[in-house]
Amino acid sequence: MFYMKIIFRFILLIVAVGFIVQCHSSKPVKSIEDLKTAFNSESTASEKYAKFAQAAMEEGYDTIAKLFEATSKSEKIHAFNHGKVLEKYGNSIGNAEIGSYEIKTTIENLQTAINGETYEMQTMYPGFIKNAEIEKAPEAAKSFTWAWDGEKKHLNYYRQVQSLIVKGNENGLSFEWYVCPTCGNIYNDIDVKESCDFCLTKKVNFDGYTEEVGGE
Ligand SMILES: [Fe+2]
Ligand SMILES: [Fe+2]
Repeated sequence: MFYMKIIFRFILLIVAVGFIVQCHSSKPVKSIEDLKTAFNSESTASEKYAKFAQAAMEEGYDTIAKLFEATSKSEKIHAFNHGKVLEKYGNSIGNAEIGSYEIKTTIENLQTAINGETYEMQTMYPGFIKNAEIEKAPEAAKSFTWAWDGEKKHLNYYRQVQSLIVKGNENGLSFEWYVCPTCGNIYNDIDVKESCDFCLTKKVNFDGYTEEVGGE
């Protein structure tokens, strides 16, 4: 009987240690999948906006081209940040899987951009952030939140630009754009701050995109 008790306690101990090890080594499985999806989505958006910028230049919309250049960089930073978190969770990122997209007129490209940003802002990132919080994955939650906040601003800028173009009021367009290199936040010349609202990086470190000077 004595030995039975010893064996029973030993088994209990092994089960308890196994449980603790499992808890500490468990990865945020859903968030890792979400990070891969977001990494590919942001990489696709970055490439797409760079192409939209070229198309806008060819159509003579120099100011819209600068906005697309700035948002392209912004999405690139979002993708980079998601990739860093993936690596932290033990995943090699490799090359992004670029999704398909079409290049049309600048008016149409703006609508395509608005549709993509609306999906990411309303559906994709809220779901990813919720999953990261459930899985207690703060690094993923932070990267998703920075991107989510950035997409809201992209969407607002695209809508402003679209409405000005529809009215034929190109003179109202901003011709200076700034991108925070840390979180991908974006500003125009009117609302730019001395430091980033999301991550506090100083304006002096922002990447600038102006109609006259060009991007980085
Ligand atoms: Fe975006
Ligand atoms: Fe920032």
